[in-house]
Amino acid sequence: MDIFRARRIRLLAEMTARGGGVAVVSTAPERERNRGVFFPYRADSHFFYLCGFREPEAVLVLITGDSPRQFLFCRAKNEEQETWVGYRHGPEAAAERFGFDSAWPIDEFDRKLPELLINQPALWTNLANEPEWDRRILAAIKAVRGKVRSGDTAPQTVHEISAMLDEMRLLKDEFEIAIMRRAGEISAAAHCRAMRATRPGRLEYEIEAELLYVFRAAGSQFPAYTSIVASGPNACVLHYTNNDRRMLDGELLLIDAGCELDGYASDITRTFPVNGRFSSPQRDIYQLVLAANLAARAKVRPGNSWNAPHEAAIAVLTQGFIDLGLLKGEAQELIQTQACRRFYMHRTGHWLGLDVHDAGQYKVNGQWRPFATGMALTIEPGCYIRPADDVSEAFWNIGIRIEDNVLVTPDGCEILTDGVPRDIEGIEELMRDQIQA
Ligand code: GLY
Ligand code: MN
Ligand code: MN
Repeated sequence: MDIFRARRIRLLAEMTARGGGVAVVSTAPERERNRGVFFPYRADSHFFYLCGFREPEAVLVLITGDSPRQFLFCRAKNEEQETWVGYRHGPEAAAERFGFDSAWPIDEFDRKLPELLINQPALWTNLANEPEWDRRILAAIKAVRGKVRSGDTAPQTVHEISAMLDEMRLLKDEFEIAIMRRAGEISAAAHCRAMRATRPGRLEYEIEAELLYVFRAAGSQFPAYTSIVASGPNACVLHYTNNDRRMLDGELLLIDAGCELDGYASDITRTFPVNGRFSSPQRDIYQLVLAANLAARAKVRPGNSWNAPHEAAIAVLTQGFIDLGLLKGEAQELIQTQACRRFYMHRTGHWLGLDVHDAGQYKVNGQWRPFATGMALTIEPGCYIRPADDVSEAFWNIGIRIEDNVLVTPDGCEILTDGVPRDIEGIEELMRDQIQA
C-alpha cells in the first residue's frame, strides 16, 4: 500500500509542478467474450500502477492543493453479487486497504465528479482509451460549466495524463524489479520444461500446455500474451498462434512465451531442434542470431542510446548474412539500405513492464533516448528465411529468435532470463533429459 500511495504522491507533485488540478484515472472495463461469458479480467496498467486495486468498475481521483486528496470510486458491497461472482472490497474497506482518503460507490461517480472539478484549473486523464469514460468525463466538465452563474468555473485545460505516467513507469522500482525477476524465472522454467517435452511427432499445442502448466503452477495469473509455439515453416510467421501443427524430425521449434506475474510481463523466445540436435545449417543461423543477441545486450548500459542494441544486432546479422551467402554486397552499404530486412524485419526490442510492450517514449525531442538505471527491455534479434529461388535450400523455413529480458543497472545490465539455456550445448544437454508425455 505504501508503494502505491507513494506513486500517487509523486504524480500529485508532478501535477502541481505543472499548475495543479484533478487527475481522473479509470480502470479497464470487463469485456464479454460471448453471451454472458467474460474474458478473464485484467485491470488497466496505469490504474493498477497507481493503486494496486484489481476490481473492475473503479476510478481514481487525485486533487492537488495544500493538502492533496486521494479518492477512489469502486463497486459497492453487494451480498447477492458476491455470492455469484466473489468478494468485492466495497468503498470502506478499499479506502483503508489501498490507502485512500475516502472512497465512494462507483454509482455516485457521475454525480460526484462535477463537484470535485469545480474551480480546478485543469483535468488530467487517460483520454481516448475507453470512449465511455471519455463521454462521462466530458459530461462532468459540461455539468460544471452549467454552474457558471453561481460563480463557479470549470477546468480550462484537459491534459493527457499518460505521458506523465508512462515516464514514471519507465523506471522500475525495487518492488517492480523483484516481481520481474520472479516472472523471468517462472517463464525460463516453463521454456526448460517445453524443451524437455519436445520431440518429433508431438503437437505444438501439447508443448503450449506444458508452458501454461508451469506458468500457472508457479502462481502467475495469466500468460502475458498468446504463446507462439511455431514449428518448421511456422517459425517464419512472426505472430503465429494457431499452435496446432505436428512437429517433424529435423525441424526447429520457436517458442515465444512469457507469464504475467502480479501484473508484470516476461517475454522469452527460445528456438531449438525438435529432435534435440541442431543440423549444420540450423547451427549456422543459430550461432549468428546468438551473436546478435550478445552484441545487442552488450550495448545496454546507462547513457547508451536506445537504438544502440538494434544497430549492433543489424551489424552482426548483415555481416553474417553476407558470410552465409544470403546477402551479396558490402556490409556498410547493405546496412545503409537495410538489406537485412528481408530476413530480419522487426526491431531488436521494446520496453517491458506491466505491459509486454511497455509504456515509455523511445525518442525524446526527436532523438533516441539514452538508457538509464531501472529501465527494463527485451533483446530479441531473429532471422526468418522463407523458401526462395535465390536462397540455398538448406536454409529454407529456418526461423530463429532469441529473446531475453534485461534490466539496466548502474554498470550495464542484468539478464532476467538466464534460467533457460540459449547456447547450443546448453540446449542440447537439457533436451537429452526428456520428460515423458
Ligand atoms: N511476444 C511479443 C514480443 O516479443 O514482442
Ligand atoms: Mn518481445
Ligand atoms: Mn516475445
